[in-house]
Amino acid sequence: MEITPTGQACGARVAGIDLSQPLDRDTISSIRSAWLEHHVLAFPDQKLSDDDLVRVTNYFGNVGEDPYFVPISKKTPVVALTRRADEQAPVFAENWHTDWSFKQHPPIGTCLYSLVVPPVGGNTGFANQQLALAQMPDDLRQRLENKIALHSAAAAYGPDGTYGEKDQGNDRSMKILFSEQANKSEPHPIIAKHPESGAETIFGTVGYIHTILGLEAEDSRQLIMDLYAWQTREEFQYTHVWEPNMLVMWDNRSVLHKANGGYDGHARELHRLTIAGDPALAL
Ligand code: SIN
Repeated sequence: MEITPTGQACGARVAGIDLSQPLDRDTISSIRSAWLEHHVLAFPDQKLSDDDLVRVTNYFGNVGEDPYFVPISKKTPVVALTRRADEQAPVFAENWHTDWSFKQHPPIGTCLYSLVVPPVGGNTGFANQQLALAQMPDDLRQRLENKIALHSAAAAYGPDGTYGEKDQGNDRSMKILFSEQANKSEPHPIIAKHPESGAETIFGTVGYIHTILGLEAEDSRQLIMDLYAWQTREEFQYTHVWEPNMLVMWDNRSVLHKANGGYDGHARELHRLTIAGDPALAL
């Protein structure tokens, strides 16, 4: 296995491995170590079926439950992130986020496999939250120290959210659900220790984070926005450029990510599973 760091704020490319074949324990353990070190791993030139995607995900933890997506069929939990060449709906997930951070035990990671890649655009952005915290100015860090954030899916998957009632009229190929359940909130510390590496990290961002406990509404809003401005700075980012048949797995506990558009007139399709992992490994 050859691991080549991207040279950006996180991420590495992994060659010399065929994920369509069963992996032995030592190989899985080497991948996990590289994953914890680089946060985002890209495996190019992989010919994977949906069953392979489930098998590979299971090497790192149980397959997670995706509350607001409809899987591609009743026989698999795999979800398709799709956009047709002529699709008019806004690009899905074109904003920084941590997958399902509004859950009590958010997924520890996500596996995303590319089937159709546009010739331009459609990159995925990542922002290294361990690095952002390590380089954070003292005054911002002091304001965040010991603070608990409330996370909720309301702004995205609630009836009034981006993918709620108002999205129903959009020409969208992805099957996204919305629900009143999204209005529920879950508390998580903003500064947390990564349960596997022990490294300190920032967990979550505005969108799913809607309130910081113990602050007046305006102070809470201001701190959430100050955090956002810092944690998404360019020097903490890695922009992933997709190739067809590439598997990317990222650590949901140490990076933010976002989809990028810029490919109108071209189709894009990726298959996705979250890694639930042991609740003790979740943030
Ligand atoms: C996501 O999982 O948030 C989407 C990423 C992408 O489509 O690039």
